[in-house]
Amino acid sequence: MCRCWSRRPSPADHPAARATASYKRSPTQLTAMTDELVDRARGALGAAYVPYSEYSVGAALRTADGSVYTGCNIENANYSNSLHAEEVAVAAAVAEGHQSFDRIAVSSGARDGVTPCGMCRQTLAEFADADLPVVCDEGDGGTTTYTLGELLPDTISTDTLSAAADARDAGGGEP
Ligand code: THU
Ligand code: ZN
Repeated sequence: MCRCWSRRPSPADHPAARATASYKRSPTQLTAMTDELVDRARGALGAAYVPYSEYSVGAALRTADGSVYTGCNIENANYSNSLHAEEVAVAAAVAEGHQSFDRIAVSSGARDGVTPCGMCRQTLAEFADADLPVVCDEGDGGTTTYTLGELLPDTISTDTLSAAADARDAGGGEP
């Protein structure tokens, strides 16, 4: 069975859904906030530790209360230990008690409109609803904005796990 965004168990209770719904900004305010967030993502990538890929990524995550947390990629000689900019930003925000997000901006040193990878999309989906704007830096002031739902139409969620648990309970165990 499809576990898509619309099947979240309690969308109204989801922290980011509340945050997004409560945000009423004018187009001018939104543009200024987005520009600032892209600038913060660009600033964050300056700290990237990328001796292996030499591909710097920065992310800036705005919380529901308007604070901004940034992250950069941090690579490791054991490649799979490498941290992605978006997950570092999410970790910084959550560690400070934030679980409701307004938008995220992502930038690479190549200004190539990089989008969060699949893993980071799922990490964002843990806290954000499908309408979270994901602003990707194309360089020269250009951006492409996706919703998280466009980037990740289907997620693993608590719904996935509870449905599997229900099926186990009903069937008396794993098939
Ligand atoms: N990278 C990120 O930081 N975020 C993404 O979602 C895409 C990939 C990093 C990981 C690695 O350090 C480098 O970009 C090349 O893949
Ligand atoms: Zn990633």
